[in-house]
Amino acid sequence: MLVKEKTEVFLMRTKIKELKTASAEEKFLHKSLKINAWVRTVRHQKKFSFIELNDGSSLSGFQVLVDDSLPNYAECVEKISTGAALSVTGKIVKSPGKGQSLEMQADTIEIIGLCDTETYPLQKKRHSFEFLRTIAHLRPRTNTLGAVARIRNRLAFAVHQFFQERGFYYVHTPIITASDCEGAGEMFRVTTLPPETKKETEDFFGKMSYLTVSGQLNAEIYASALSDVYTFGPTFRAENSNTSRHLAEFWMIEPEIAFADLNDDMSLAEDFIRYLLTAVLKDCPEDMELFNKFVDKGLLNRLRTVADSEFKQVSYDEAVHILEKSGVSFEFPISWGQDLQSEHERYLTEEHFKQPITIFNYPKSIKAFYMRDNDDNRTVAAMDLLVPKIGEIIGGSQREERYEVLEKKIEETGHHKEDYWWYLDLRRYGSVPHAGFGLGFERLVQFVTGMENIRDVIPFPRYPGKAEF
Ligand code: 4AD
Ligand code: MG
Repeated sequence: MLVKEKTEVFLMRTKIKELKTASAEEKFLHKSLKINAWVRTVRHQKKFSFIELNDGSSLSGFQVLVDDSLPNYAECVEKISTGAALSVTGKIVKSPGKGQSLEMQADTIEIIGLCDTETYPLQKKRHSFEFLRTIAHLRPRTNTLGAVARIRNRLAFAVHQFFQERGFYYVHTPIITASDCEGAGEMFRVTTLPPETKKETEDFFGKMSYLTVSGQLNAEIYASALSDVYTFGPTFRAENSNTSRHLAEFWMIEPEIAFADLNDDMSLAEDFIRYLLTAVLKDCPEDMELFNKFVDKGLLNRLRTVADSEFKQVSYDEAVHILEKSGVSFEFPISWGQDLQSEHERYLTEEHFKQPITIFNYPKSIKAFYMRDNDDNRTVAAMDLLVPKIGEIIGGSQREERYEVLEKKIEETGHHKEDYWWYLDLRRYGSVPHAGFGLGFERLVQFVTGMENIRDVIPFPRYPGKAEF
């Protein structure tokens, strides 16, 4: 007897997610387990209580039945409330209630952390996402933000799976840099100098340095040695745009492929998007159902269609033609040579084509210096992949691999050739046609979840005026 009691103390800790799988009944019925989790809801009755626990491993929680045979039952009734942390042991039994097949009959309950009911902000009612942003330390405990976190995790893993399965190498590019890849002047300065000191040579790195806006130039170095590489890291842009699609700190995935042209780049991008969607649709059905039901009603159908379809490829010339003929009065009038604004992108993908599209061959004058000149002398081999509801999700290009052409482009765009000596060097020593793109990870998560605001798909959003948490 004593021996038995002793072994029962060392119960296997089980994640709630495991109790939700198809084989859970076969695996766990009549077994004794331990669950560590937080209380979502609790209903006390005279002789027993129902506690809904959630440990974040899945959207749905697990019901625990507690009765007054427990020595500390009175304490449980008095102290356990929504938000409290518990460690519960007990036997898994069939649940007579609706909505779950199994439940636990508690043998012991240990209160690990009490929750102050007076001030706990996550009560049963639904809160706005704006309000939840003000409590970013608690919001992952809500259904939607918890689901976003799990989807982000699955997508990040799928990013690595996609490239690793195709023989790409993951390269870590620097976060602090002295070069402005996109040339858009949206860089955050990194300095240890007091404000009154002007001399950049006295600064920590001996020259002006910044937080990176893209790992591309460094990725090109590694593609010029390992052929196919990708980066996946934080990226910073000081654009003062208070939109639902811009962050000051976001994550970007940037593959770079050697011996490749723009067509290779576009097919890689399209395969990549389809692969990522397929992964979440297959592995996150419960979370995806939540988004489909409460956030964006047509979401699942839309994603399934995208995951199975060829994307439409449209030249910039054709896109502008369609916009000019559309009869829509856009806020920003469009003509050849103008950059496409979000309203144009959304018209093309949502109204006209009603599917994701890749636009290619943009005017040279609106694109970065590193993009390869086309023979027409007015466009570059650039591409943007646009999806409904978001607009641009991927931006990429074939890179200028010809030394003289690149040198000229650097100068024409107001950059200093001396700053890019190493980038130019790559064009002197075994230069090859190569291409790549950048996928904004948060825009992807937005597209997959249907969430309206990009600030709600990253754990701790940074945007003008906000760096709390
Ligand atoms: O189009 P972008 O500026 O391209 C580059 O940075 C290239 N160097 C990529 C490459 O070819 N290796 O940015 C790529 C993507 C955009 O399509 C968008 O999804 C995302 O990054 N992005 C942002 N996401 C959130 N907040 C911002 N402020 C973003 N700026 C760009
Ligand atoms: Mg872009």
